[in-house]
Amino acid sequence: MITHVLAIETSCDDTSVAIVGPQGFVRAVVSMNQDKAHAPFGGIVPEIAGRNHTEFLLPLIDRALQEAQVSWDDIQGVAVTNRPGLVGSLIVGLVTAKSIAQARQIPVIGVNHLEGHLLAPFLRDASYAPPEDFDFPYVGLAVSGGHTTLYHVPRWGRYEVLGATLDDAAGEAFDKFAKSIGLGWPGGAKVDQLAKAGDPKKYDFPRSMIHEDHLQMSFSGLKSSAQRKIEGMTSAEIAENRSHLCASFQEAIVDVLVDRLSKAQKLLKLKKAVITGGVSANSRLRECGLQWAQKAGVQLVIPPLRYCTDNAAMIGYAGWLRLQAGEKDSLSLGPSPSSYSSDFIGENR
Ligand code: KG4
Ligand code: ZN
Repeated sequence: MITHVLAIETSCDDTSVAIVGPQGFVRAVVSMNQDKAHAPFGGIVPEIAGRNHTEFLLPLIDRALQEAQVSWDDIQGVAVTNRPGLVGSLIVGLVTAKSIAQARQIPVIGVNHLEGHLLAPFLRDASYAPPEDFDFPYVGLAVSGGHTTLYHVPRWGRYEVLGATLDDAAGEAFDKFAKSIGLGWPGGAKVDQLAKAGDPKKYDFPRSMIHEDHLQMSFSGLKSSAQRKIEGMTSAEIAENRSHLCASFQEAIVDVLVDRLSKAQKLLKLKKAVITGGVSANSRLRECGLQWAQKAGVQLVIPPLRYCTDNAAMIGYAGWLRLQAGEKDSLSLGPSPSSYSSDFIGENR
């Protein structure tokens, strides 16, 4: 039995290292956020992300080993995100992981970042455990800055795409909207905060495709509608109505996400569901998701915030499952900006 996997996540702008054991038990997870470095540019600058990963990664590995109170001799495998993501960012984690594997003579496994998000509901630690009866199969909604996709997950390793956004990811829509009302980047969490004091009915923003009989999503109509509304307002009006704008915009996104999750659950007649990814940190999405689940008699698991946003613990658990099953990659494993065609079943990967 593999008891300690060292996991590395550097696919985008968060540098994260974890040590994960059986049943998804997280012995340590340490991360460095780069928001401050990218904020002046209004978005992620890939070259800055890669440079920062290079500076942060080795000190984080030392910290993770210390926090987990383990030594190199305890580490039996290395899991690393090698797809999808920014190639210059993935390379930093990947080369480090392969070097460790070679030096320590232990196996390395490349993990798909989205598989990590979809398995995050199983993570546990000293202060949190998912419900005891939570297990496969489930409907999974992975909603982040780069992805908004619905999956059927009958077991680990099999991820069937049911539908996805046809344009912007929900997190991207949150971030663009936040920028347009002067909240800076990344603004998803700020919109969430301001929305708490706002009226979600003050502005009538569109819920694209909500009554249509499929599982695709679209947020570009909402984005343009909000843009037009904001362009027609003076700066004073925007400042005065900021919380109402945030609440109305957020409500439209949440309505679409919960509607699609509910449609998928009905279609598959599954009694378990998961919302995961950075946007699942959104307090209104959590609230409306849980309300829907209670009404529909569905067990909905939304991982705690530390496992929703990008983190190496989820990569560690996906890697642990694969290493434990005897899988390993060669030392010529490379990075890939997109998922492999074998990672998912169905369209819209
Ligand atoms: O999963 P994640 O950490 O990174 C990606 O893989 O994209 O997700 C980051 C996204 C960003 O767009 C951010 O604005 C959004 O998640 N986000 C939120 C909240 N917290 C993070 N969006 C809405 N409400 C939040 N509370
Ligand atoms: Zn992510």
